Amino acid sequence: MDAITSSGLAKTTMTSAGYPPLRRSAVTWFVVAALGQLAFVWMILAHYGVKGLAGNFSGWNDKPLIKGFVSGDTTGNIIFAVHVLLAALVTTGGLLQLVPAIRTRTPMLHRWVGRMFFSVAVVMATSGLWLTWARHTYLSLVSGLAVSLDGALILSFTAIAWRHAVKRDFAAHRRWALRAFMVVNGVWFLRIGMMAWVLLSGGGVGMNDSLSGPADVVIQFGAYLVPLIVLEAYLRASASRTLHAKRMTAALIFLATPITVLGVCGAVAFMWWPYMR
Ligand code: HEM
Repeated sequence: MDAITSSGLAKTTMTSAGYPPLRRSAVTWFVVAALGQLAFVWMILAHYGVKGLAGNFSGWNDKPLIKGFVSGDTTGNIIFAVHVLLAALVTTGGLLQLVPAIRTRTPMLHRWVGRMFFSVAVVMATSGLWLTWARHTYLSLVSGLAVSLDGALILSFTAIAWRHAVKRDFAAHRRWALRAFMVVNGVWFLRIGMMAWVLLSGGGVGMNDSLSGPADVVIQFGAYLVPLIVLEAYLRASASRTLHAKRMTAALIFLATPITVLGVCGAVAFMWWPYMR
């Protein structure tokens, strides 16, 4: 989110600079989230990447999956492989786009990584929708619908952000690119959100094995809707001249940071660590 404050968005930059805690809260959250996303990328490369390079595709199923490698299902396996391997690229690309130094010092790199990020995000959403509905990879209808809405938002936001970049409307482009960043990371937020709730509730109150419990439903839709709401609050508070709005938003983002830390620690400890080694 710090992308906004240090970008060329003159209006936003000037007004959020008037209240440093807002920028500090966003930068702190982003650093924590970036570390958590790098752990996710590490797991993807160490598990899917290393086993894939060794030709051990059935080894992908050593990690709990609904439907990973299925002997004889060539199309499904290829689409699954493309989806999981590009997951590392899209997550890393999204992070690079938010580093202010890259944007300002190497604008050409920013443009190329941006094109890659949007293109790969489209492939991720399309392949994800195919895996869900054509390959029937979902635990319950509500969980299939929740991740599909995320897929639809990824396709919409990347198209809008790209169109604004082509039209050289960079203020609108940055807002939509940040929204695209949030929904592309919806699957990462989902894992973080689930682990944070498991730890906070002492074992996962309201969750079940088919991801259809009340807490599962809230977390699956909340995984991208909550980050979008917080981002919206940040964009509005940054542009606002009201100190109260800036204070409230800074407090909200500061509150989100320990929850993110908890979720990242939980995801690394209980979901990813066995596959990161
Ligand atoms: C663009 C961001 C996305 C990323 C980074 C991503 C990442 C991943 C990863 C890493 C896996 C392997 C499972 C694991 O080890 O955790 C996976 C599996 C899967 N993804 Fe995605 N995904 C994204 C978007 C989507 C979308 C939008 C959908 C659905 C519309 C989707 C549907 C699936 C399905 C069905 C599987 C197989 C799950 C299983 O067999 O257990 N993904 N994804």
